[in-house]
Amino acid sequence: MAKTFPTFLFLSVMYIIAGIANSTAATPSNFIKSSCSTTTYPTLCFESLSIYASTIQQDPHQLVQTALSVSLNNTQSTKTFVSKCYKLKGLKATEYAALHDCAEEISDSVDRLRKSLKELKLCKVKGEDFRWHISNVETWVSSALTDETTCGDGFSGNAVNGKIKDSIRAKMVNVAQVTSNALSLINQYGAKY
Ligand SMILES: *[C@@H]1O[C@H](CO)[C@@H](O)[C@H](O)[C@H]1NC(C)=O
Repeated sequence: MAKTFPTFLFLSVMYIIAGIANSTAATPSNFIKSSCSTTTYPTLCFESLSIYASTIQQDPHQLVQTALSVSLNNTQSTKTFVSKCYKLKGLKATEYAALHDCAEEISDSVDRLRKSLKELKLCKVKGEDFRWHISNVETWVSSALTDETTCGDGFSGNAVNGKIKDSIRAKMVNVAQVTSNALSLINQYGAKY
């Protein structure tokens, strides 16, 4: 006992030191985690971006570009889903109207996010006005988020019922959270330069 205790203690201390070093080391994963920590949905932020750690490395521009690309792709696939839903047969007029409005809003959102991704790339070009381009990106992503939220809200009442309503709401909430995180990373990036 007298002989094993110090060994155990030594290993515990080493384990704790290694743990602390690992959580603060300059790795892409820790870079993503600390950038995500100031967003509204940090866990979702880290989950959706850590899979791209090898692309992001510790580059703030690449981080924001990936976050925006994830948001665009999620919004695009939700758009496809919603467009299929409103073509379903047997919808009530109110259901059709809610789905149709949502499809239009989400389509606007996709356009704004796509335009933002292009604009964001200009922030990195030498000689281009960083502040001008980043403020355009902030404005458009913020409008895209409003479109997504409006679309989700359209399904909180009783205009649409059952499974379609629940799955659209769930998708819209997720998409809006991913976009909200992208927006806060963009604001963070814009404020630093
Ligand atoms: C988004 O989709 C495009 C086109 O399919 C793809 O090239 C890109 O890698 C995707 N972005 C992310 C972050 O997965």
